[in-house]
Amino acid sequence: MNQKEPEWVENVRKKVNRFRISKEIFYYPEVTSTNKKARELILQDTTSGTVIISSIQTAGRGRLGREWVSPPGGIYVSIVVFFPPHLTDLPLLTVAAAVGVARTIEKVLDVNPEIKWPNDIFLNKKKVCGILCELISGPRGWATITGIGINLNVEEDDLPSIEGYEPASIKSIIGKSISEENFLENFFKNLNEAYSSFLRGPKGTEKLLDQWRQYAKMLGQKVKVQFGEELLEGIAKDVDEKGYLVVLRPNGEETHVMAGHVILPDWYKQID
Ligand code: BTN
Repeated sequence: MNQKEPEWVENVRKKVNRFRISKEIFYYPEVTSTNKKARELILQDTTSGTVIISSIQTAGRGRLGREWVSPPGGIYVSIVVFFPPHLTDLPLLTVAAAVGVARTIEKVLDVNPEIKWPNDIFLNKKKVCGILCELISGPRGWATITGIGINLNVEEDDLPSIEGYEPASIKSIIGKSISEENFLENFFKNLNEAYSSFLRGPKGTEKLLDQWRQYAKMLGQKVKVQFGEELLEGIAKDVDEKGYLVVLRPNGEETHVMAGHVILPDWYKQID
């Protein structure tokens, strides 16, 4: 064990190294970004199932070029999985990751998390987790990086108010500190199950999408979806087999959106 490693890291390692997504765990007390570290390891020829965990990020990255503020108490994880050549739909990986995290929060903490497409996890209408999936070509072909930031035991004052949503600490919502060891053991188990569904092909993907729908209270609600300069309005109808959001437009047409930022009129903070 590395001197600077908290005890829980080795305990988690022993429990989850049988899973295909978490065969080898590297822990860093502080990094710029675990996704960046994962990228470096892929370029140095790391294997599928490599995980990077850190307790602080000094330059954490969010979706759409945003910063992911990463104070102590949070969990910052990147998972490297080689992309099977028969699969082409990266948004589905985000769906798998979101289901794995939501299930972990639900089962470990006995609360009701919600997923906001594509990859935000909310608790009590506040964002507690974000997911950033990336694809990179390395010496062994295409590899995916699933970066997950969870505001597990952070102090709420350390989280800045972000345009578009209110961030929160799970510890503050639950009212007590959460064991990293127990949380992460369940996290890797649930993520491994979700990834396995995804990798099984269409049948597994359908099961995964059904699980995703159970957490997505936004379905059926009026939404605005911002992608680039465009703003699309309609009803969030469903998620399709590729993981795209299906928006029913006022003119009756359906638009399938691959990437963007969803604004819900009622219970999420609006940005306009
Ligand atoms: C978002 O909601 O904008 C996505 C946030 C993703 C943050 C995680 S933290 C671990 C990994 N490393 C990063 O630099 N970003 C992701």
